[in-house]
Amino acid sequence: MKVVVTGANGFFAQHLCIYLAGKGFDCYAVSRGARRIPPVEGIHYTNLELTDFSSVNTYLTDVQPDVIVHVAAMSKPDECHHHRDACILHNATATGNLAEAAKKGSSHFIYLSTDFIFGENGPHAEEDQPDPLNFYGESKLMGEKLVRQHAGTYTIVRPVFIYGTQWGGMRPGFIQWVQQNLQAGNTIKVVSDQLRTPTYANDICKGIEQIMVQKKQGVYHLAGKDILSPYSMALTVARVLGLNESLIVEVNSDSFPEPVRRSRKSGLKIDKAIRELNYRPLSFEEGVRKSFVV
Ligand SMILES: NC(=O)c1ccc[n+]([C@@H]2O[C@H](COP(=O)([O-])OP(=O)(O)OC[C@H]3O[C@@H](n4cnc5c(N)ncnc54)[C@H](OP(=O)(O)O)[C@@H]3O)[C@@H](O)[C@H]2O)c1
Repeated sequence: MKVVVTGANGFFAQHLCIYLAGKGFDCYAVSRGARRIPPVEGIHYTNLELTDFSSVNTYLTDVQPDVIVHVAAMSKPDECHHHRDACILHNATATGNLAEAAKKGSSHFIYLSTDFIFGENGPHAEEDQPDPLNFYGESKLMGEKLVRQHAGTYTIVRPVFIYGTQWGGMRPGFIQWVQQNLQAGNTIKVVSDQLRTPTYANDICKGIEQIMVQKKQGVYHLAGKDILSPYSMALTVARVLGLNESLIVEVNSDSFPEPVRRSRKSGLKIDKAIRELNYRPLSFEEGVRKSFVV
């Protein structure tokens, strides 16, 4: 199976490309700029700017993929808040163009969305009413709408707070930030009044593989099974790595005035994926252990 993965220099797409290549898929990794994904057999990297629609369309006509997994996004809520036009171009318009090209080429289109399309009172099920609290969430919801409008065969996947192993060429995630600070003896302040269902990157890869192989359409929540605050996640990282828990200071969101509103109680329900995709995510503690290979 030929699979195009967008955003291949980013955190999650690097995991996905390496996972798919390891499973024998032919992975066409696209992202902007020089390749940051490690050299792995079965991954063919191309520098492609997704807002350059004619280059994107030519590339897809040449490759003729069976599946396109659209992972690329302007993924930082603060950046989206401050650069709204660029955010719409990257997260919505480029998604619509890709969805339309996928339909023309009869490719299965899989779109990585987010729990940020919802508001408070999580964890949410697939059919819950969206109510984004910030512009990033709005732009990803616009992306979902364009996928429904323009793609032929499509699946929308929504993960939450993705974590996993970090290697060179990748930005450190939350768990690495905790590790690095505690190892350096720094005190860190972490909020305890926001709840999430953090998702181990490899679990999402397995879910996407099932969606591709079983040609599942519709919406699937691929999240973790534990509901945790960032504070309790940080404590877990410290415990697993044998680091000093007393350096982690519990705070609430009011002590972090942010331009972007975030849900207090987010997270996603995963019953549908468990039922239909045989999705069996790790506990957060198991995921952290695997991420650091301890
Ligand atoms: N991280 C999470 O906790 C989380 C949670 C839920 C959902 N998601 C969704 O999951 C996906 C992956 O997230 P992530 O954290 O792995 O993101 P990331 O690390 O920021 O990766 C996104 C990648 O997309 C590339 N990109 C963005 N716009 C592009 C464009 N116009 N043309 C070509 N490449 C472009 C970026 O390039 P540069 O490297 O040059 O910037 C980056 O390499 C996103 O769709 C996000 O909305 C993430």
